Order: sequence, then C-alpha cells, then structure tokens
Amino acid sequence: MKDFYTMGIETSCDESSVSILKNEREVLVNLISSQIDIHKEFGGVVPEIASRKHLEAINPLIDKALKDANISYDDLDLIAVTKGPGLIGALLVGISAAKGLSLATGKDLIGVNHMQGHICANYLSNPSLRPPFVTLVVSGGHTYLCVVKDYTHYEVVGKTRDDAAGESFDKIARSIGLGYPGGPKIDKLSKIGNPKAIDFPRVMLEKDSYDFSFSGLKTAVLNYINNSKQKNEEIVKEDVAASFQQAVIDVLVEKSMRLMDETGYKDFAISGGVAANSTLRETLKEKCEQKGINFYYPSNILCTDNAAMIAMAGYLNYREGEKSDNYLKVYPNLEL
Ligand code: KG4
Ligand code: ZN
Repeated sequence: MKDFYTMGIETSCDESSVSILKNEREVLVNLISSQIDIHKEFGGVVPEIASRKHLEAINPLIDKALKDANISYDDLDLIAVTKGPGLIGALLVGISAAKGLSLATGKDLIGVNHMQGHICANYLSNPSLRPPFVTLVVSGGHTYLCVVKDYTHYEVVGKTRDDAAGESFDKIARSIGLGYPGGPKIDKLSKIGNPKAIDFPRVMLEKDSYDFSFSGLKTAVLNYINNSKQKNEEIVKEDVAASFQQAVIDVLVEKSMRLMDETGYKDFAISGGVAANSTLRETLKEKCEQKGINFYYPSNILCTDNAAMIAMAGYLNYREGEKSDNYLKVYPNLEL
C-alpha cells in the first residue's frame, strides 16, 4: 500500500512549526521555530509580533520540512492545520498558508483543534497507547480532565473555571522575577526549594467536582510576596516557587487519581506544556504505579506546541471521514 503523508502546520501562539507524519505514527520531521527570545523581552507573548514572525517563518519551514523528509508536494496526502484555540492573527497565518498549499496542490485540508493535538502527542511518544484512557491536558491557556473514548471522541469531565495551570506558572514566575515562559523556570528553581515552606491553598471546589480553579492560589502567592515586601522581608524565591508548584500539583494529582478510581480505566496520560514539569511527572508516575495504572506522557518537545501533534490529530480525524474546505475559519476560543 502507498504510504500516507500528512503535513502538520501549527502557528497558534509563539511557535511556528511544520511537520511531516508518515502513515499513522511515524514523525519524519518536526521543525519548530520558537519566538521565545523575542517575546521574553516583553514578559509574555505580544500577539502582533507573533503574527509577523509566523509570516516570516512559515513558508521557509514548509519548504525545509519537505526537503528534510525527502518528499515533494506531490507525495503529500493531507494538510492539517491548527484552527484554534489561539491568537487570532497567529492562527490566520497558519490557516492561510495551509489553504494556499491545498489550493495549489489539490491536496485535502483539515482544520485541527490544538487541544486535541496536545492529547494526540501521546500517540507519537507511546506507540502502544490506544483509547480508551483518561487524560489531563495542562497547557498555557487550558486545563482539561477528560476521557478519550476513541481516537476522535472526548468527554470533558472537568476544566478550569478561571486561570489555566500553565498561566498560573507564568504569572507567578513573573512576580518573582523569573521571566517568560515561567513553567520551565519554576520547575528548575523548585528543585532547590522547600515545597512545604509556605502553606498555599489547594482549591478543590465542590466535593465531587473535577473542575479546577487556580486564581485563588495565584492571589495567595501574590499576597504573600506583597506582605513580605511591606515587612521589608526578603522572600526566598526557591521556596515560593516550590511551595506554589506543589500546591498546583497536589490539586492536579488528586483530581486525576480520583477520576481514575471512579472510572476504573487502567491508562492515564498527561499532555500540554505543563506535562513537561518534572515534579508533576514524578508524582503521577509514583501514584499510578501504586494503583497499577499505566502512566504515559509525551517527550518534552511534544509536550509544548509543535506541528507533529497537529498532523497526528488531523490524520485520525481524516481517517474517520472529516475534512475541511477552503472556507476553513479560525476559532480563537475553540474548546475541546
Ligand atoms: O501547551 P503549551 O506549549 O502552549 C499552549 O497551548 O498554551 O503550554 C505552554 C505552557 C506555558 O504556560 C509554560 O509555562 C508551561 O506550558 N510549561 C511548563 C513547563 N514547560 C512549559 N510548566 C511547568 N513546568 C514545565 N517544565
Ligand atoms: Zn499548546
């Protein structure tokens, strides 16, 4: 049988990425051009700059991806592109490139939900993983606890009512002067801090709820920092980082494991940028081992934004008969 090639295109935030996926799970190329060095001067992503940088990067990345995969436009079978959620101008660059390519080559086009992409990154790193399983998706803009029923159906059981997990990492990092993006910096600094030094709140919401809320924790950390300042006391940054991180992890782990107990599934996977967090992974690995649950996570590069996960999700949806036409729009607030 002829090989099937999917090109993935991702431009929803501050990473321009193009990938080539061969058949179901073989990533031939996953090029990522990060804008972090530009945005970090501003303490966060500047949407207008992001769009401009995607525009400069996207066409050269498409050419390079085909060259590195040693295939031509003719060999492509499908073009999968992130349609949302994300920054509207940034998404538009990827969608326009994908539409242009589809029109010029006659190849099929499919718009992909970025959050489904994050979940599908797990298939690329874990060849044996198959639905059904439970997944915790923790990115910069979203937090979901959901059951993956099959390759294209997801049942969201819980989500954040305010800040996303990654967002809280970024905000706290900024407040203690670590810069952007905060997650990896808090992860690193926490290793030399005491997670029990400060008792920050673990917001569990109603007894049976699988929803999350991280804005109260953020306020508690900011109050702690301000109170220390007023008293002219120097904060111990590593202890603040470690205690904050532990509070987030305790909530994520507790709710995830409760859902595993309640549903009885034997496979659990995490995804999204925060899934790269080393302490979160260690804790979940240990808890899952105790319960006899298989624990999965994507490699670090597949946790944060990349086009391979978009190609993977696009391929799975296309296989089920879905495709987009040239009227494909962007959906900045798309939910899972
Ligand atoms: O999934 P992602 O790359 O982009 C979105 O779709 O939002 O996630 C980015 C988020 C940022 O908030 C970043 O601080 C966080 O993931 N992150 C981490 C780590 N690496 C990235 N958070 C905690 N620990 C990490 N090691
Ligand atoms: Zn993402």
